[in-house]
Amino acid sequence: MLPFILKLLPLLLSLTGATSSSGPRHEDFLQCLELYSEDTNSISKVIYTPNNPSYSSILQSSIRNLRFNTTATPKPLVIVTPVNASQIQAAVTCSKKHRMQLRVRSGGHDFEGLSYVSFVEPFVVVDLINLRTITVDVANSEAWVGAGATLGELYYRIAEKSRTLAFPAGVCPTVGVGGHFSGGGFGMLMRKYGTAPDNIIDARLIDAKGRILDRAAMGEDLFWGIRGGGGNTFGVVVAWKVKLVPVPPVVTAFSVVRTLAQNASKLIHRWQYVADKLTKDVTVRIFITRVNSTDDGYGSATVQAEFVCLYLGGSDGLLQVMKDEFPELGLVKEDCIEMSWVESTVYFAEFPSNTSVDALLNRTPPNSIQNSKGKSDFVREPIPESGLEGIWKILMEQVDGGNAVLLLHPFGGIMNEISESSIPFPHRAGNIYHFHPLLNWDENGREASEKYLNWIRRLHAYLTPYVSKNPRAAYANYRDLDLGANTPGQEVSYRKARVWGIKYFKNNLDRLVKVKTSVDPANFFRNEQSIPPFSA
Ligand SMILES: Cc1cc2nc3c(=O)[nH]c(=O)nc-3n(C[C@H](O)[C@H](O)[C@H](O)COP(=O)(O)OP(=O)(O)OC[C@H]3O[C@@H](n4cnc5c(N)ncnc54)[C@H](O)[C@@H]3O)c2cc1C
Ligand SMILES: *[C@@H]1O[C@H](CO)[C@@H](O)[C@H](O)[C@H]1NC(C)=O
Ligand SMILES: *[C@@H]1O[C@H](CO)[C@@H](O)[C@H](O)[C@H]1NC(C)=O
Ligand SMILES: *[C@@H]1O[C@H](CO)[C@@H](O)[C@H](O)[C@H]1NC(C)=O
Ligand SMILES: *[C@@H]1O[C@H](CO)[C@@H](O)[C@H](O)[C@H]1NC(C)=O
Ligand SMILES: *[C@@H]1O[C@H](CO)[C@@H](O)[C@H](O)[C@H]1NC(C)=O
Repeated sequence: MLPFILKLLPLLLSLTGATSSSGPRHEDFLQCLELYSEDTNSISKVIYTPNNPSYSSILQSSIRNLRFNTTATPKPLVIVTPVNASQIQAAVTCSKKHRMQLRVRSGGHDFEGLSYVSFVEPFVVVDLINLRTITVDVANSEAWVGAGATLGELYYRIAEKSRTLAFPAGVCPTVGVGGHFSGGGFGMLMRKYGTAPDNIIDARLIDAKGRILDRAAMGEDLFWGIRGGGGNTFGVVVAWKVKLVPVPPVVTAFSVVRTLAQNASKLIHRWQYVADKLTKDVTVRIFITRVNSTDDGYGSATVQAEFVCLYLGGSDGLLQVMKDEFPELGLVKEDCIEMSWVESTVYFAEFPSNTSVDALLNRTPPNSIQNSKGKSDFVREPIPESGLEGIWKILMEQVDGGNAVLLLHPFGGIMNEISESSIPFPHRAGNIYHFHPLLNWDENGREASEKYLNWIRRLHAYLTPYVSKNPRAAYANYRDLDLGANTPGQEVSYRKARVWGIKYFKNNLDRLVKVKTSVDPANFFRNEQSIPPFSA
């Protein structure tokens, strides 16, 4: 079917050129879409303009940050929900022709809403909600995953076929594979198997020329770039082919909570010397929050650390490792819960206990959707206890109405063995852990936002002496426009893009720019933090 479309393409393009009217751009765009598709009736079913009654619900369906759900938030002129690749090709070709900016959305979890918000130029959102097919090939330990699928859907479909296969990606089940694999993607299996894109073996991509390319057709440079170089940069990923990884039929998890009165500071301090050096089969991450308490001298609040662990094996093995390497935590058998790997994904997603794995298929997040802002840092030297005390002080002083969590995720393991240039994701040997502060709040409005944003910026400033330097690295998937942005509507300056680009990609930035320059020199695929071509 595809070659047929490609053959027709020049003809269709010349036709649209001949009939193009001087009406508003998006009407030309819509006409173009209809002309382009063989079947006008079917394409009109996947196009939503603001006067379509479903427009708002489609737009809001995967907004995951209420900061971008206001009346002031710029809205797309058109949303397209393609049912197949040829409809995406039509959207790309017609957007280009009629100078509409195109934003791709898969799971909608972008921290800055860039998959559905653009502050300049009329724009189109191509939402991949209908492209979620997952085909698991157990014999070859591989799977094709539609880019619109969520992590939860992928985990569920793997487990349907096998209890001993898994995929190493993020913890939140509603994150989309389209954006997640494009920018990195890591979770509880990273220390053993690396990031998600370390395990991608093929892909189908629609490039700025509207061509559909697999790995062989796109070549190794572009295939390298799409595995971590950031979404909405090289094209629209339609599907990924991933290598599945082996896990034992029984894994063990625990969640152990300690407050300051229970030596949380000492434990966190000690964890920094242990977490990245443990066997690859163990991942212990920490959630740090402020909680109410009256019993440890901080007034009515205290700091609580929740140590959350996945072990690839039974509880006896885990107890032995913890006794040998981290006895201070005081883990006991009663803390350990044995389960299958897929059950552990439900456990880590913080659903109520004993939630069925069917919950992984739900595209609505387990927690309520709030306003939020996240930050990202890498810690390479343990933070001294005095530094931790300073962090607790800021956490104690958080703005009322805010709900902050500091998520410390250990590196080490196989991450120390993969070269920094293997894929664009460069954060490898030397990182002890990723430090991710996240602030959620309910109060709406710009003024309210400022107050909360100021708090997390203050924390970010405080962390400066304790985190990576030259560059102060950050994880591209935890997008933060405070780090710098391409100026909307203006030519992208390579010098300016370097400011944030070097943080996300370190020395891989130049190769990314080279790839971008060769596949999309006119910078058709762009957002405030996409890789610029040299000429633009
Ligand atoms: C609640 C929450 C939990 C998270 N947990 C984790 C975690 O455990 N581990 C982790 O590593 N990250 C985590 N993240 C970050 C997450 O990986 C990124 O936000 C990721 O980019 C989201 O992908 P998406 O498809 O859901 O988002 P989207 O908003 O749809 O897309 C993100 C970016 O990718 C682009 N894009 C989307 N689809 C495609 C496509 N098919 N082709 C090309 N470009 C595309 C978009 O235009 C946008 O620029 C979390 C985020 C949130 C909000
Ligand atoms: C894409 O889907 C539409 C709607 O079902 C259909 O008319 C069209 O033939 C499909 N195109 C291809 C190439 O499969
Ligand atoms: C987004 O805003 C709309 C309109 O104000 C509202 O109906 C909807 O509930 C909001 N979405 C969420 C998740 O709160
Ligand atoms: C805290 O640590 C001290 C020694 O460092 C120990 O004596 C005490 O029992 C610990 N408290 C708890 C609650 O584990
Ligand atoms: C903590 O205490 C405050 C003030 O008393 C209260 O508003 C809040 O709901 C409490 N939070 C929790 C998690 O119990
Ligand atoms: C989950 O259910 C099982 C069996 O029904 C029960 O034994 C177990 O205690 C439950 N776990 C939790 C955490 O509630």
